[in-house]
Amino acid sequence: MHLGLKKKNVLITGSSRGIGRAIAIAFAHEGANIVICARGKEKLDELKEILNDMNITVLPVIADLTKVEDIKKVAYEALEQFQHIDILVNNVGGAELYRKFENISEEDWIDTFNLNFFSAVRMTKEIIPSMKKMKWGRIINIASESGIQPDPFMPDYNAAKAAIINFTKSLSKAYGHYNILINSVSPALTNTELIEDSFLKEAEMKKTTVDKIMTDFLTHVRPNIALKRPAMPEEIASVVVFLASTKASFITGTNIRVDGGSINSI
Ligand SMILES: NC(=O)c1ccc[n+]([C@@H]2O[C@H](COP(=O)([O-])OP(=O)(O)OC[C@H]3O[C@@H](n4cnc5c(N)ncnc54)[C@H](OP(=O)(O)O)[C@@H]3O)[C@@H](O)[C@H]2O)c1
Repeated sequence: MHLGLKKKNVLITGSSRGIGRAIAIAFAHEGANIVICARGKEKLDELKEILNDMNITVLPVIADLTKVEDIKKVAYEALEQFQHIDILVNNVGGAELYRKFENISEEDWIDTFNLNFFSAVRMTKEIIPSMKKMKWGRIINIASESGIQPDPFMPDYNAAKAAIINFTKSLSKAYGHYNILINSVSPALTNTELIEDSFLKEAEMKKTTVDKIMTDFLTHVRPNIALKRPAMPEEIASVVVFLASTKASFITGTNIRVDGGSINSI
């Protein structure tokens, strides 16, 4: 299937590992040029090497996307290198898995929103003028099933993800006439370091194995995942690539659930 992504310029936030990394590799397979960014240099360099071997142009930028000045730096370097960005994937995000409402300080709420929501708002603001000029653009925001079907824990993260789904819809209405299509993708449990790290912590605390924690999680916390397993990052990436492609030219303002059946509503 011809996806029309060759030589498109793609910026993916939080892309040195996990879902962001899988998205970068998936776009590179389609011949797109890639801007990757994260705080840690080592993993960013590792991915740069992999992408360089795929005969595309890669721009890695070290940045902390909770900081306004770093977002501006990423956008500036990306636009300087490529003149315009065709596709923006606001992927960066994360949560402390079982945090309870009463243990979340005002500062924690702000940190969570800076990472999961304002990073996307700010990066979109930097990039959208170049899309308007081209009268072509795709923005894909990575939300979460927690934004639609929240758990009793991590209300800060759940609310930030709900906000990004709402933001997606709002902008899709505002920019549709510029041919800028804006959608969100909501994964359920996905096998990345975000999950591995928090399961490892829990396993150490409970003196058990990560496999046991995963089995317990699927049995008790996510019994509704019909496929009875976590997603692989590549299974999220393929949907993002499709949404950015010419094959998805009449899809905007949608939240696509890539959740193995986890969300109960139809
Ligand atoms: N994994 C899941 O089960 C799951 C489920 C639903 C939704 N999601 C969403 O999917 C997205 C990706 O999650 P993931 O599981 O792939 O996460 P991950 O494995 O923790 O990877 C996060 C990536 O973002 C970078 N990053 C983290 N904080 C950053 C910051 N302040 N500034 C710049 N880069 C930063 C990390 O690199 P550095 O640490 O080096 O900066 C890394 O490259 C998030 O929005 C998450 O909420 C994940």
